[in-house]
Amino acid sequence: MTAKIIDGTAIGAQIRTEIARDIVSLSARGVTPGLAVVLVGENPASQSYVRSKNKAAHEIGMHSEQHDLPALTAEADLLKLIERLNRDPRIHGILVQLPLPGHIDERKVITAISPDKDVDGFHPVSLGRIMTGEPGFRPCTPFGIQKLLEYSGTMVEGSHVVVVGRSNIVGKPIANMLMQKAKTADATVTVCHSRTRDLPSITRQADILIAAIGRPEFVTADMVREGAVVIDVGINRVDDPSKKKGYRMVGDVKFDEVAAKAGAITPVPGGVGPMTITMLLYNTVESAKRSAG
Ligand SMILES: NC(=O)c1ccc[n+]([C@@H]2O[C@H](COP(=O)([O-])OP(=O)(O)OC[C@H]3O[C@@H](n4cnc5c(N)ncnc54)[C@H](OP(=O)(O)O)[C@@H]3O)[C@@H](O)[C@H]2O)c1
Repeated sequence: MTAKIIDGTAIGAQIRTEIARDIVSLSARGVTPGLAVVLVGENPASQSYVRSKNKAAHEIGMHSEQHDLPALTAEADLLKLIERLNRDPRIHGILVQLPLPGHIDERKVITAISPDKDVDGFHPVSLGRIMTGEPGFRPCTPFGIQKLLEYSGTMVEGSHVVVVGRSNIVGKPIANMLMQKAKTADATVTVCHSRTRDLPSITRQADILIAAIGRPEFVTADMVREGAVVIDVGINRVDDPSKKKGYRMVGDVKFDEVAAKAGAITPVPGGVGPMTITMLLYNTVESAKRSAG
């Protein structure tokens, strides 16, 4: 079998067209969705993520503002900025780019964001709402995975989903989201991690296999059932002297051999990655809609 490619760039573009339409109708009611992105320090990867998020928000017609703070910013000053953004009626979504410098308590900062503006979906209130199946902001990467499954027409209901990875930002939320009694959910979910015994015997049972491990090309063809849908969340840099930059990006799945066996697969890059920013825009527009009533 040669897998169908689940194209995150194309699906992301389709969702952005739908979001743009919502922005136009909100504008007609005098509301422009507003996103505030906060960056502390000069981590080059974080700078690049923040630039992309801002650019995407501007391109789609949102109000977007970037707050660059020096690496030595006191935690209290960052909390004050968040408090100000919580009160600012032009701002519907607040995102603090992680990781933060070591002297700042990330948990304190995340919980300082109003759950009504938590478009990154990391606030414990947002995560609790996933658990109980209540409406709320879904973290952008897991939400993007769910949309990829929906837009690719993957049957999730009743399927056995195996998630490898149990991080708070990917593994745990996607497992919770897909086990809910809801649309593009209702799955039977198994969560695996580094202490799982005989991992391949479990991943081979998956109708849908989600790899969020952070290890380059970890999932090999012998770990995948013939015809399974494989979602590769991993973004890993591996040395490659044949490339101009000296490296290339690979996922957590050994793409060529798994694509020869799977029914459908997401590529890296171009799979889950483009969906993450799309869902940030989506959450911000949803927040603006809620505040507009
Ligand atoms: N596309 C995107 O937008 C996006 C967004 C977020 C993350 N990512 C990528 O997704 C990957 C995962 O990110 P993350 O933040 O979830 O990573 P993480 O916090 O490091 O978690 C990795 C998970 O993988 C498990 N794991 C590690 N080695 C394993 C092994 N040998 N067998 C089974 N499980 C193993 C760990 O188990 P333990 O819990 O037992 O340690 C942990 O639960 C990374 O490559 C990251 O760059 C991509």
